[in-house]
Amino acid sequence: MSSAETSPAALLFEATGLSKTFGIVEVLKDININLRAGEVHAIIGENGAGKSTLMKIIAGNQPPTRGEMKIDGETVTFSGPVDAEHRGIVLVHQEILLAPDLTVAQNIYLGRELHKGVFIDDRAMNEGAAKAVRDLGSDIDPNTIVSRLSIAQRQLVQIARVLLVPHRIVIFDEPTASLTPHETDALLKVIRQIRAKGVGVLYISHRLPEVKEIADRVTVLRDGRLVASHNTSELQPADMARLMVGRDVAKLYPDRHAAQARETVLEVEHLNVPGYAQDASFQLRKGEILGFAGLVGAGRTELMEGMVGLRPSRGTVRHLGKPVNFRDVHASLKAGIVYLSEDRKGKGLLLTKDLIVNLTLASLGKFAGVLQIDRKRESAALDKAIRDFDIRTGAKDILAGQLSGGNQQKLLLAKMMLLDPSIVIIDEPTRGIDIGNKEQIYKFIANLAEEGRSIIVVSSEMPELIGICDRILVMRSGRIVGEVTGDHMNENEIVVLATGVTKEEAA
Ligand SMILES: Nc1ncnc2c1ncn2[C@@H]1O[C@H](COP(=O)(O)OP(=O)(O)OP(=O)(O)O)[C@@H](O)[C@H]1O
Ligand SMILES: [Mg+2]
Repeated sequence: MSSAETSPAALLFEATGLSKTFGIVEVLKDININLRAGEVHAIIGENGAGKSTLMKIIAGNQPPTRGEMKIDGETVTFSGPVDAEHRGIVLVHQEILLAPDLTVAQNIYLGRELHKGVFIDDRAMNEGAAKAVRDLGSDIDPNTIVSRLSIAQRQLVQIARVLLVPHRIVIFDEPTASLTPHETDALLKVIRQIRAKGVGVLYISHRLPEVKEIADRVTVLRDGRLVASHNTSELQPADMARLMVGRDVAKLYPDRHAAQARETVLEVEHLNVPGYAQDASFQLRKGEILGFAGLVGAGRTELMEGMVGLRPSRGTVRHLGKPVNFRDVHASLKAGIVYLSEDRKGKGLLLTKDLIVNLTLASLGKFAGVLQIDRKRESAALDKAIRDFDIRTGAKDILAGQLSGGNQQKLLLAKMMLLDPSIVIIDEPTRGIDIGNKEQIYKFIANLAEEGRSIIVVSSEMPELIGICDRILVMRSGRIVGEVTGDHMNENEIVVLATGVTKEEAA
């Protein structure tokens, strides 16, 4: 089915007949794929299609169940990722795998520290780390403890760490999922630079316009099979979407009835989240979808965390007219307010526990039998969640951490719905979600509003906010600096508010 021509002489890497089985589930089926020196080869596909698994096999993190891999025409088997690194293959993982209590520089050089005589050379490592992140368009201080960094900054540190390893093949697994446009541009520039040096790049992304921009070739996986491989010039993003999902994805955003002015369910006045947000005042109405836009670091996430009791905050919050002061997240949960963190790994899911535990943990009361937890009801709830949210999992008894990234997000949504919330705050609802599932999640959010629930959406993707929200508040440097509604809900007006710079000034 391949229409992309490849001259064998230029092949850096070639895999034939790769298959991977977990238990009885075959997640990769007879994959043939190759990579030339000096090309960017994108791998796209729905959540759970097998992209990350394929990349982990190529990078030596997991052995294939069957199949062969060749580098420069020579058959290789890897005993582990270090073995693959010695052959010049490096992988930037989809999930953040840094040591949270170490500094940026220590993480970047972890396991390959620089020495001066017998001593660790902190200065050289700091300088090296500073340059490595600067090359990626960021000014993160190398002395910062990683736990203090945003998700986007952590992702950049992870990329910087990998690029310092000598490499011939670099694999990026959704490197831009949490990056801003500026950081994304910087990364794409770096990728063009390494490509120009003859490095081969395997690139996974759900952002199809970005794939169009950076990739020379595109390969599509569906349900573990390779269904198409084309030169990028032959495909538009809409074609890629159709190949991935197996149907047209013409309309991403649901039609919505204009929300009528209904009663206010949440009233926030002069809320301060020390160090992050100042003097925030806004109202949320019943059945409304309220967006929060702003640059990364504008304080949106922290404002929400302050509101629901995940961080200390001062100010007034009135819920259904009554002043409330949520000391912790259990208090806000009890009031029917659910906050879905952007950090699904750190705050959302227990990755080493199974799906049922994750699904029901926050609402165990619902599953109490006479003497013990009612396993049958739990299991029925999981079946329903898998159906309702189209969670793609081969087996039901796997750990949450074994779900693909996008399916972890869907499990989180399902977990939240078991709580039957009246107010839902969702931070980055579609990060790492494929285009077909995005459409479903938007429909789901619109339905929540139809049912009379109130929703706050924090997102870095402006089209998404514009597509689904009734109203958008824009934050800049910890303050709410404006509100856009109706015809004013466009990227221009939001960017001007978010940056404080008009288009003319920026030009
Ligand atoms: N260790 C494991 N044990 C069992 N199943 C696994 C394991 N690792 C992955 N899987 C399953 O393999 C399938 C493919 O997962 P993979 O992570 O490769 O998908 P993906 O294409 O990267 O998706 P996403 O876009 O959501 O990141 C999924 O059904 C996943 O649950
Ligand atoms: Mg993945």
